[in-house]
Amino acid sequence: MGDVNEHYRQTALTERILQELVRGGRDLGSLQPGDLAGVDEFHLGGRAATDALLSSLDLGPGSRVLDVGCGIGGAARTIASSVGCSVSGVDLTEEFVETANDLSVTVGLDDYTTFSTGNALSLSFAESEFDAVVMLHVGMNIADKEALFAELARVTKPGGYVAVYDIMLVGNRELSYPVPWSSDASTSHLATPADYRAAMLAAGLEPGESVDRLELVRSTLRATAENPPVVNLSHLMGVDWPTMFGNLRAALDASLVAPTQIIGARPR
Ligand SMILES: C[S@@+](CC[C@H](N)C(=O)[O-])C[C@H]1O[C@@H](n2cnc3c(N)ncnc32)[C@H](O)[C@@H]1O
Repeated sequence: MGDVNEHYRQTALTERILQELVRGGRDLGSLQPGDLAGVDEFHLGGRAATDALLSSLDLGPGSRVLDVGCGIGGAARTIASSVGCSVSGVDLTEEFVETANDLSVTVGLDDYTTFSTGNALSLSFAESEFDAVVMLHVGMNIADKEALFAELARVTKPGGYVAVYDIMLVGNRELSYPVPWSSDASTSHLATPADYRAAMLAAGLEPGESVDRLELVRSTLRATAENPPVVNLSHLMGVDWPTMFGNLRAALDASLVAPTQIIGARPR
């Protein structure tokens, strides 16, 4: 895991994001969750992709949701504010967790979200604690998909869901590195939609159809190019971001990878 941490590690992240917002003319006292969406939804399609995932889940204000590999907490805040439910987030990267908690305080969602450090492969939650477990763009860093889904299924209630939105392998050529999730091939563990479905089945989950979100991703990229947000992922990932994103975009254009959503139901 050391190298995964190394790839994502940043310093003074909260301060840098808030400074950038002030520089862009935002008043920190009246900041809304949507003002952070350019930087805190660290997956293709950003907030629109989180909304799309959420629309497939049957959640209400009493639901408990776990966001695995939550990053700096954007998807968790989107779910908490849309549904009015409580969301826990877990991430390997300590500074992301600190920033996730800081940003929830800044936008007044800290009563609904709690973020802590942890590993998706050994969660510190009891069995059947959550109505839904969501995981966005994290599985690409985890080699053992069967162990991963066994752990996600364990903490999901019977009748609940494990909802995954990852970059999955659909072609058979090597990618160029760095990419947003890895500095080199040693920490990149891409798998096909069929591999994900097999791992879900092995964990006792019933996978629904694989949904390719490429069209949604392309339309959000167009919208962002026309109307760039004040804060963006270069403020999260630093000066290498354009190279990382350029390599990912080339892999998408060459149909080597696809942004794919699969929802697994845990039978009652
Ligand atoms: C591309 S970011 C996505 C963050 C977030 N899900 C989002 O969509 O905004 C991948 C995240 O997965 C986390 N991660 C990678 N491997 C992990 C593991 N084994 N357990 C928990 N988090 C992990 C990284 O620290 C990073 O924050």
